[in-house]
Formats: sequence, C-alpha cells, structure tokens
Amino acid sequence: MTDKYAVIGNPIAHSKSPQIHRMFAEQTGQDISYEAILAPLDGFAATVERLRKEGYKGCNVTVPFKFEAFKIADSIGFEVMDAVESGHEADAVNTLVFQKNKIGGYNTDGAGLVNDIAKNFKIPLKDKRILLIGAGGAAAGVLHPLLEASQSPLVIYNRTLRKAESLKKTISQHEKFRHFSIKPVEFGKLGNEQFDIVINATSAGLTDSEIPLPPNIFAPGALAYDMMYGRETPFMKFAREHGARAVDGLGMLVEQAAETFYIWCRVRPETAPVIAALRKQP
Ligand code: ATR
Repeated sequence: MTDKYAVIGNPIAHSKSPQIHRMFAEQTGQDISYEAILAPLDGFAATVERLRKEGYKGCNVTVPFKFEAFKIADSIGFEVMDAVESGHEADAVNTLVFQKNKIGGYNTDGAGLVNDIAKNFKIPLKDKRILLIGAGGAAAGVLHPLLEASQSPLVIYNRTLRKAESLKKTISQHEKFRHFSIKPVEFGKLGNEQFDIVINATSAGLTDSEIPLPPNIFAPGALAYDMMYGRETPFMKFAREHGARAVDGLGMLVEQAAETFYIWCRVRPETAPVIAALRKQP
C-alpha cells in the first residue's frame, strides 16, 4: 500500500519538496505519495489532524508553521544523521512522524546545511571560524548542528543585537553548548576578524537588501553560503567580488529532505542526482 506524506505550509505553491521526495522514492523504490498542502494560517493543527485521520504517515512543515509543529509533537527525535542531533533545541521542527497515538518531531534543516557544506562542497566544518548572519528561526534551526560540527567559536551577526543575544542565551542554557564561545555582534560592528564559512540565514535576499560586511571578512578559500536558493542575492554577489566561493541553499534543501526521507522510510537516497536535476530547471 502506498504510504502517504505531504508538506504543509502557507504559502506552499512554490515548494520543491514534492518533486524532491518523488525523485527519492523513484530512486529507492519506495511506494510513497507526497503532496503540497496549503493550510490556513490558523488551521495548522486541524490540517495535521485531518491527515492523521486519513492515514498519512507523516509530513514536512514549512513557513510559518515550524514552531507550531514543535508544540504539537509529543516527542522530539534524536536519531538521525552522522552524529548531528536534530530537533529539540531549535524549538522548531520541519518533520513530523505520525505514530499510532503520538506525533514524533524532528528538525533536519541543520543536518541539511552541515551535510551540504561537508559532503557536497567537501569542506570539513571542524575548527572552522563560522560567521552566522541572522538570528531568526532559520538561524536558530541550524545553530546547534553547526556548533557540534565545528566545535569552535562562532559569531552571530544580526541587524538587531537583542535578537542575537537572545539566541545566544537560549542555546547557552543547554548543558551541551555551555562551553562554546558564541559572540553576538550588531550589523556594522564587526572588527578585522576573518571567517572560513559565512552563512546568510537572514531573509534579506528576499528584498535584495545588502548585508553590511567588511571587505576583508573572508579568509582565503572561504565559503559564503546563502540559505536562500533560486537567485543570486546581494550577499552572494558581494562574497564573490571579495574572493569567496559563493553558493546558494539548494543543496541544503535536498539534504534536509534526504534526512527526512531516511526518518520516514529508513533508506538513504542519493542526493547528488537530485540536486543536479533541480539545478537544470529554469
Ligand atoms: P526566518 O524564519 O526566515 O529566520 P525571522 O525569524 O523573521 O525569519 O528572522 C528573519 C531574520 O532575517 C532576522 O535575523 C532579521 O533581522 P532582525 O532580527 O534584525 O529583524 C533578518 N532580516 C530580515 N530582513 C533583513 C534585512 N533587510 N536586512 C538584514 N537582516 C534582515
């Protein structure tokens, strides 16, 4: 029997997830269906209930429901990927698993980012100097896996200092992350420090807004990673012009989907052909 899955969001029409999961299913011979579902802004929980009643096995959750998904999950998973835990501290989940009487929640975004950088761009994160730009939901979702993978000090650079400080405070409350050095810095206040990996987790690219960065911010061979995909953002342009390798977040999208697919189907799909297929699309 076909196992039913879906992605719930608002808006949702742009989602590439159905295409990605169908490619994974075809590649691995899994009998699943996957559709995009638009939930009303006040109707996330009701939509999940409907899917459960209709026998769906699980769903992905995207903007703006990731925090609500965390709240309705009965348990938060810690069993995915290569030593990178998921969910819990992020307080937001993107993957739900419907079990008989409960809902399991996971966040595979951070693992998606770490896997894309380490596996696809072949840059080991251990000991890398990382600058994380942004302090909203997207940044929060990837902060823990980044720290675990790099095991080194990290700077959170945000337009609003208070939000960067609050993100630091939240993470520092967890025993496991207490010993990490996390420095919140407000836009315009970076010194002469250089970074090996600079990640843009803000939504500034949506409005083509510039992020104020010193011209010498990139260490030799640095990677500039924009978590957005589908367009060259001003951040990527700036990075390229200042000697960094600039990449978008398409690989992260596919890698987070692969982690989710593994949680659901217990099979690891190949991500490279799927990334290549999506890159070819207009
Ligand atoms: P998301 O879930 O996408 O992270 P969010 O929680 O609203 O959404 O956070 C948006 C992030 O992008 C924040 O870090 C925000 O900066 P502020 O904390 O100062 O609001 C950042 N951001 C949004 N638009 C931006 C812009 N035009 N320039 C710089 N930063 C921007």
